Amino acid sequence: MAILIQNIKELIQVEDAPQIMARGAAMSQLQTIQNAWLLVEGDRIIDFGKMPFIDFGIRNSEFGLTVIDAAGKMVFPSFCDSHTHLVYAGSREIEYIDKIKGFSYEEIAKRGGGILNSARRLHEASEDQLVEQAMERLNEIIMFGTGAVEIKSGYGLNLEDEMKMLRVIRKLQKLTPLTIAPTFLGAHAVPSEYKGKQGEFVNLVINEMIPQVASEKLASYIDVFCDRGFFTVEETTKILEAGLKYGLRPKIHANELDYSGGIQVGVRHNALSVDHLEFTGQAEIDCLLESETMPTILPGAAFFLEMAYAPVRQMITAGLPVAMASDFNPGSSPSGNMQFILSMACIKYRMLPEEAINAVTINGAYAMGLSKDYGSIARGKKANVFITKPIPTYAFMPYAYGSNKVDTVILNGEVIFDSSYLKPD
Ligand code: NIG
Ligand code: FE
Repeated sequence: MAILIQNIKELIQVEDAPQIMARGAAMSQLQTIQNAWLLVEGDRIIDFGKMPFIDFGIRNSEFGLTVIDAAGKMVFPSFCDSHTHLVYAGSREIEYIDKIKGFSYEEIAKRGGGILNSARRLHEASEDQLVEQAMERLNEIIMFGTGAVEIKSGYGLNLEDEMKMLRVIRKLQKLTPLTIAPTFLGAHAVPSEYKGKQGEFVNLVINEMIPQVASEKLASYIDVFCDRGFFTVEETTKILEAGLKYGLRPKIHANELDYSGGIQVGVRHNALSVDHLEFTGQAEIDCLLESETMPTILPGAAFFLEMAYAPVRQMITAGLPVAMASDFNPGSSPSGNMQFILSMACIKYRMLPEEAINAVTINGAYAMGLSKDYGSIARGKKANVFITKPIPTYAFMPYAYGSNKVDTVILNGEVIFDSSYLKPD
């Protein structure tokens, strides 16, 4: 099966020589082709160029050719959402109301809400219920343009339930056309039965959970919530070292609530990414500059919890790359809409549309270890793209916040969603 998209108003984020990420000044570079065509065969991008499309016999090949006319529309590489917790049971709007009344995220957590609340609900839910709820969320983010997504465990807080979450993620990998990067987040919060015995819980993560996760090959990455009131730098060090012995590369929660040392401990262990980063100063920026770690910002959580916004302009000016992800979870960011993240990037972090697009595509792909195959339109990369509705410029994507500008979704070289099906004949 081959697909030719022709008369594309503008083909976005094309690369002749693919880069693994965009950093510093390069984040404002975005290569595009106006009046373009894109050819996909099997699950790969074969070629692209300027109209007219020269037919070298594809039309008569054994694959057959579907032609899509994209006049007035643009084609983007699918979004790469490198940080989510989208396997969870139920929702937490009660806490949302508490937040409106003035309680902080940490106060809610101390009262047994927050992550512990989701852990109780997850414990009661069956694997099938979790799969069903997560599939709904995955189908929704597909329609908003996401093509690859990281999903964490972390609402288990004991061996059995953590394994249940990771097995659900494995099932999702078989059920969805999305590419999923699985992360083990055993140390997300200390369960109430370990109150005052946090060291014992850390040992449980190290001695029982990590070996089991590794033996069933259920995760590629390891995460720790290294922050004030959650896990210390020392505990994080122990957990990351244990994970690295099993080949689990760190991708950690850091500096959301304080200058926690999380960024430094992540970089010391060659983390693929450090995420949140609301509390980032010059020392943290200097440390990241010496690393291969992707600083990842989660605008949805900062917005939903009304936190300070990470100093993204300062980071980019210093020469750092920045990725942006949704953090889709029931407590701090109950949305996986990456188009909203794109708008937040421009509005709240003062990123240019080009920088924001790089943050949610190639840099997000890097933060999942997937940038060789995802995150841009390049020959040989996975054919994960979306066609927009007719839009005047690509800056319209972040500008027109709140509405869905995605018209057609192609994942693994197949049309997965086409909004014209929704239109009356
Ligand atoms: O990324 N910060 C830690 N974990 C999640 C929130 C999880 C929850 O509240 O359920 C986050 O914001
Ligand atoms: Fe998170």
